Amino acid sequence: MAQPCTSSATSTLLPVTPARLRKMMLWTVLGVICFLGRAAECRRGRISDSFEYSAISCRAHTASITDFGGVGDGQTLNTKAFQEAVHQLSQYGPDGGAQLFVPAGRWLTGSFNLTSHFTLFLHKDAVLLASQDITDWPVIDPLPSYGRGRDAAGGRYISLIFGTNLTDVVVAGENGTIDGQGDLWWQQFHKKKLKYTRPYLIEIMHSNNIQISNLTLLNSPSWNVHPVYSSNIIVQGITILAPVTSPNTDGINPDSCTNTRIEDCYIVSGDDCVAVKSGWDEYGIAYGMPTKQLAIRRLTCISPYSATIALGSEMSGGIQDVRAEDIVAVGTESGVRIKTAVGRGGYVKDIYVRGMTLHTMKWAFWMTGNYGSHPDTHYDPKAVPAIQGVNYRDVVADNVTMAARLEGISGDPFTGICISNVTIGMARKAKKVPWTCADIEGISSSVTPPPCGQLADQGPEKAAGMCDFPEDPLPIDTVEIKKCSYSATNYYV
Ligand SMILES: *[C@@H]1O[C@H](CO)[C@@H](O)[C@H](O)[C@H]1NC(C)=O
Ligand SMILES: *[C@@H]1O[C@H](CO)[C@@H](O)[C@H](O)[C@H]1NC(C)=O
Ligand SMILES: *[C@@H]1O[C@H](CO)[C@@H](O)[C@H](O)[C@H]1NC(C)=O
Ligand SMILES: *[C@@H]1O[C@H](CO)[C@@H](O)[C@H](O)[C@H]1NC(C)=O
Ligand SMILES: *[C@@H]1O[C@H](CO)[C@@H](O)[C@H](O)[C@H]1NC(C)=O
Ligand SMILES: *[C@@H]1O[C@H](CO)[C@@H](O)[C@H](O)[C@H]1NC(C)=O
Repeated sequence: MAQPCTSSATSTLLPVTPARLRKMMLWTVLGVICFLGRAAECRRGRISDSFEYSAISCRAHTASITDFGGVGDGQTLNTKAFQEAVHQLSQYGPDGGAQLFVPAGRWLTGSFNLTSHFTLFLHKDAVLLASQDITDWPVIDPLPSYGRGRDAAGGRYISLIFGTNLTDVVVAGENGTIDGQGDLWWQQFHKKKLKYTRPYLIEIMHSNNIQISNLTLLNSPSWNVHPVYSSNIIVQGITILAPVTSPNTDGINPDSCTNTRIEDCYIVSGDDCVAVKSGWDEYGIAYGMPTKQLAIRRLTCISPYSATIALGSEMSGGIQDVRAEDIVAVGTESGVRIKTAVGRGGYVKDIYVRGMTLHTMKWAFWMTGNYGSHPDTHYDPKAVPAIQGVNYRDVVADNVTMAARLEGISGDPFTGICISNVTIGMARKAKKVPWTCADIEGISSSVTPPPCGQLADQGPEKAAGMCDFPEDPLPIDTVEIKKCSYSATNYYV
């Protein structure tokens, strides 16, 4: 990586901060030393980094976190450097936007906000380390569609990387890491000592045109990626790792979002790998913002106590048109799970799942109409959810304890369920009755072991007519992805 001292690349960003000036002056001194022929000195002086990456937008301006006084030693707190960098770079929004590069190193930081027309790009050996000091996490209002925080009534700690009311934002890397160091928060949660709801790693609210790609997310205090009240979102190439016993470390939670695709993600966590949401009981019903047009492709999930893909339990604004394909789960509690309750209202409809390979599962399919879990006692007992049109096809599973447990709501059956071309190999210690069904209606075709009477086999023709996976692309599939480059010299001493 070290460049010969005759190379002349420079960072193109304009604001000359004191830290940057010091480094430039130092480099000038080093340059003179280099010029005098002491090559070893100049190798310490700077590193040129250049990358190509794919993104929804490329940027005209470039800076490195070191330009704003950032120090990647794992100990210096960089919150101010990140906040200052975003603040300075936000001025380039109308002028082609800016990208902020985080070089190799361990960058301790508290929460910072993103801005519009902005890319945060992590080197493969860059690690953002979340601060362990709770005062580095300001408290913000609860989400209006939830009415309260999920861990505690009232506010919530802001996410490590937060954005609201933005457009055109990219958080990307070449598999660089964001480490939430969540152990502290998990302990506080278990000891019931939290005053507010735990922070997430990345939350983007009220925004559109968002890309989050090629990152490794470790040990989030709670959920990992939370786009909410947003549209046109690409989440791609994300590796999420957290202990399988860690509380609520959901992977990716699209929440009241339109037009989203989640692709090529590998998730090992303590809660649902992908959880599709849209608000909680009377608050979600009043806010009325569904999650719709969601594609989930090539997801691998390991989560022994939770679902590969969950719909709910907060679904009061509705969930519609979800298409999941090429899903692999190993040692996970369930494949696809619908969770809801009386009082939720809303709907879950037009759900399509094609191509799942499941190994060692408790339930391949699970629907729960009595999930409970209410924000308060003011929910409307007449607000029953509508669950309609749920299609599962081309599924192979082995070592499964129970094929399915499908429980609707008495007086409010879940309808239009179609299960076809499914082969479930049962575990040696499987339950005697592989399917339990109550308050559900639908059909099946070519399913082993044979399903319950409510899903009688109606033959492949009827199933094909009723249960085909949609072939038209979603609007998010037609977004143009550009080849962008980053190239700059960073001054290190
Ligand atoms: C993520 O990385 C993969 C593998 O290097 C690459 O093919 C893909 O284009 C990257 N995605 C984005 C959005 O940059
Ligand atoms: C980040 O955004 C939140 C919510 O709008 C705001 O409360 C907070 O002050 C912002 N932080 C900074 C450093 O600007
Ligand atoms: C952000 O957008 C939401 C929804 O449009 C709006 O209610 C809110 O006032 C906006 N906030 C700011 C700080 O502009
Ligand atoms: C990204 O990093 C994670 C954690 O180190 C690793 O498991 C994964 O294989 C890496 N992915 C790619 C595409 O390099
Ligand atoms: C049944 O599912 C398997 C994958 O599980 C797939 O290869 C096959 O093409 C499907 N058959 C039909 C008729 O769709
Ligand atoms: C089957 O699942 C059980 C747990 O239910 C596990 O202990 C066993 O190792 C699994 N067998 C195989 C072959 O994966």
